Amino acid sequence: MFLLAFLIINFTFAFLIWVYCKLTCGVCRSSRHLVGKTVIVTGGNGGIGYETAKDLAARGARVILACRNETRGLTAKDQIISATGNPDVHYRHLDLASLESVRSFADNILKTDKRLDVLVNNAGCYGSKFEKSEDGLLLEMQSNHFGPFLLTNLLLPLLKSSAPSRIVNVSSYGHNMGGVIDFDNLNAEKETKETYSQFKVYGITKLCNILMTVELERRLRGTGVTTNSLHPGVIATGIGAHVRLMRLIVFLLTPFCKTAWEGAQTTIHLAVAPELSDVSGRYFRDCREVKPSKAAQDTELARRLWDESERLVELQITT
Ligand SMILES: *[C@@H]1O[C@H](CO)[C@@H](O)[C@H](O)[C@H]1NC(C)=O
Ligand SMILES: *[C@@H]1O[C@H](CO)[C@@H](O)[C@H](O)[C@H]1NC(C)=O
Repeated sequence: MFLLAFLIINFTFAFLIWVYCKLTCGVCRSSRHLVGKTVIVTGGNGGIGYETAKDLAARGARVILACRNETRGLTAKDQIISATGNPDVHYRHLDLASLESVRSFADNILKTDKRLDVLVNNAGCYGSKFEKSEDGLLLEMQSNHFGPFLLTNLLLPLLKSSAPSRIVNVSSYGHNMGGVIDFDNLNAEKETKETYSQFKVYGITKLCNILMTVELERRLRGTGVTTNSLHPGVIATGIGAHVRLMRLIVFLLTPFCKTAWEGAQTTIHLAVAPELSDVSGRYFRDCREVKPSKAAQDTELARRLWDESERLVELQITT
């Protein structure tokens, strides 16, 4: 009897949380068309990146899926074309963990495309091993921060000449785990295999995403290019799937997670909503502006991280 009551209470409680989750998950209400516009979605082959790309393709945009795996990229492209009837969807190879790949991807875009209206920095990973990339940077930092940082900067001239244009950065609530940034430990120089924490590094990379949005906003004022970041929600997708603990947690939480379609809504909102045309340097969740952590609002920190990142990716500013 006691047990039954206990179960009923718990079940009811869980059900109410579920209803709350579904009711508060924001949905992009704009029906704006994007005919004649070009968008790039990194990691557009799966999860929320795929849903984002599909939505933007359905609005008539020319969509470029920038991803690492050719098989998956081409499959996603075909699926999006048949789902939306928009043939202007393309796959281009991009490996954010290689600065050379980022450079050749950007060169290629600058050669083939006359405009770029929206850049969605969606790709990210969680749970990389304690490894350095071919560029000598910490793998996860490079895929989640240095790679997208270089990509954004190389595409800026095109974004500027296409203004008004937008940069949308998928960050995460996980940025709260980032705490403070130790510039002497940016690439885990002080860590050993034992002290290395995937959680913490992921948090730092996501904190970096928001800080870069803050600093880029300052640099872009008056150019007509806006940049915002977001937390997509907790999504039941493949991220972190190779970490066993994460798989278990995701399994238990699945009913309370957003679907990939729900998770893509804030990204889509930031990419298209007309009322956001002048909004920049902000952070969103469930299609609403919210405040990120204190560290993520630190403009001095943002400036320093920008300079340090510029140095590490050997960015030569030409404009
Ligand atoms: C690319 O994706 C396919 C299909 O999911 C997979 O079989 C293949 O191993 C992947 N290739 C690489 C290089 O990861
Ligand atoms: C986010 O935006 C900045 C520029 O706004 C860029 O340099 C940074 O690396 C971006 N990437 C991601 C994934 O957030």
